[in-house]
Amino acid sequence: MNINFIKNTLPTCDAHMVFVYTDRQLSATAEKIDKICEGLVSRAMEVGHFEGKSGQIIDLVAPAGLHINRVLVVGLGDEAELDEVGVQRIGGKIIARLMSSGDETISIAADTPKKANISGAEFAAHLAYGIRLRRFRFDKYFTREADSKKPSVTGVSIMTSAVINAEKLFAELDRIADGVLFARDLVTEPGNVIYPESYAEKIKELSDLGIDVEVLTEDEMEELGMEALLGVGQGSACESHMVIMHWNGSENEDEQPVAFVGKGVTFDTGGISLKPGAGMEDMKFDMGGSAAVVGAMMALAGRNARVNAVGVVALVENMPSSTAQRPGDVVTSMSGQTIEVINTDAEGRLVLADALWYTQDRFKPKFIIDLATLTGAMLVALAHEYAGIFSNNDELCQNLTKAGKEVDEPVWRMPMGKVYDKMIDSKIADMKNVGGKYAGSITAAQFLQRFVNDVPWVHIDIAGTAWKTESSDVADRGATGYGVRLLDQLVRNNYED
Ligand code: BES
Ligand code: MN
Ligand code: ZN
Repeated sequence: MNINFIKNTLPTCDAHMVFVYTDRQLSATAEKIDKICEGLVSRAMEVGHFEGKSGQIIDLVAPAGLHINRVLVVGLGDEAELDEVGVQRIGGKIIARLMSSGDETISIAADTPKKANISGAEFAAHLAYGIRLRRFRFDKYFTREADSKKPSVTGVSIMTSAVINAEKLFAELDRIADGVLFARDLVTEPGNVIYPESYAEKIKELSDLGIDVEVLTEDEMEELGMEALLGVGQGSACESHMVIMHWNGSENEDEQPVAFVGKGVTFDTGGISLKPGAGMEDMKFDMGGSAAVVGAMMALAGRNARVNAVGVVALVENMPSSTAQRPGDVVTSMSGQTIEVINTDAEGRLVLADALWYTQDRFKPKFIIDLATLTGAMLVALAHEYAGIFSNNDELCQNLTKAGKEVDEPVWRMPMGKVYDKMIDSKIADMKNVGGKYAGSITAAQFLQRFVNDVPWVHIDIAGTAWKTESSDVADRGATGYGVRLLDQLVRNNYED
């Protein structure tokens, strides 16, 4: 599907979108169409009980002789409240409605809002961004999908008086969307397609964007003393890997990098502490943290961000077998600290322990942010609405919270502290990998904190936000690509030259 920006002239297309604000205030083009069609729009609003609320749509057959088959009147809500995220949502709603409608070409009259805090170029570009995000569809494994279900739209023209600036803005957003959609693809692929080795191969594709990709083998990780990570993968026929991505976009080569670390459990059966069968198939998404890191690196490189960034992803498969780790095993992490593995299903923290230590030790980064589908308890606390953040640094949390609001990937800070930390003390080792019955997301975070020293650090538990059972305005149900936009925005706001 092609998206382009064109000047404000009445186009030839299957479906033409015009906008209306609250209280039936017509945009300039809506007014023009209303005139040409002898009051059709006004009358339809009236008889259709259409107020112009955000996302409300009425669908009209255009009069003959217009080179347009249908006119869709789309509500934008209160003009003064229109912002980037709101516009993305409108774009998403439009394409969700028309994607498989049978229409092939659509045009959208993106008249510059007069009262909003958003320019004409921003309006047009963020519409396009929302369209691109919502258009994503994972259909590669359908071999006999009915034509009526297949996407029909091949071209979207967005009419704006700011063509050049909209194109420029969208060129960047388009690169961020590349990262989001790449992450969604990775998360949606099943465990027999994306396993540590194939995943590492896929990440190597990023070298086309100027990202250096290093892959550690099991032997190399053994050499480094990563027993915590290797223990998780030892029951799997697949070799574990750690992949390190480097993007050096800063003017200053020696500028300290920012660092992102991701949990990449390509499938989580629970290991010997086997999960119940019902719904286990969803555990292919247990590499969602790593996918967010990969997608964010892709976005940063794609839009040539002026920052030095490293992305580290720990790729393992958690399987039960005769070689699998047992409950009760004690492993020595790269940090030297020992861990009693009470439950082999609390594997994400084991993998991250070594990835975090390695990252801080080797790169001395400005900060480390890790992302992980770490605990079911996160869903109990925050459902699918917010990701929980856990941190040793107030400023980084504030920056992340602000970025999250701006891109609609919200985070909520959770408490940490000594009282929670002692819940993971072990009787026979430095710590155990599970706490008690309660505060499961916090004790998991406390565990991770034992593997970071003084570096500013945030752990983001995306167990609830990486995968959704219902669609949103910018994503169909399933993988969301959560985290890519968040990290990109954090860097854009605070860490570029
Ligand atoms: N990957 C899961 C966390 C998870 C569970 C995410 C359900 C989304 C939905 C993680 O590896 C896990 O199994 N965690 C356990 C920890 C427990 C054994 C302390 C959990 O949350 O049940
Ligand atoms: Mn698990
Ligand atoms: Zn897991």
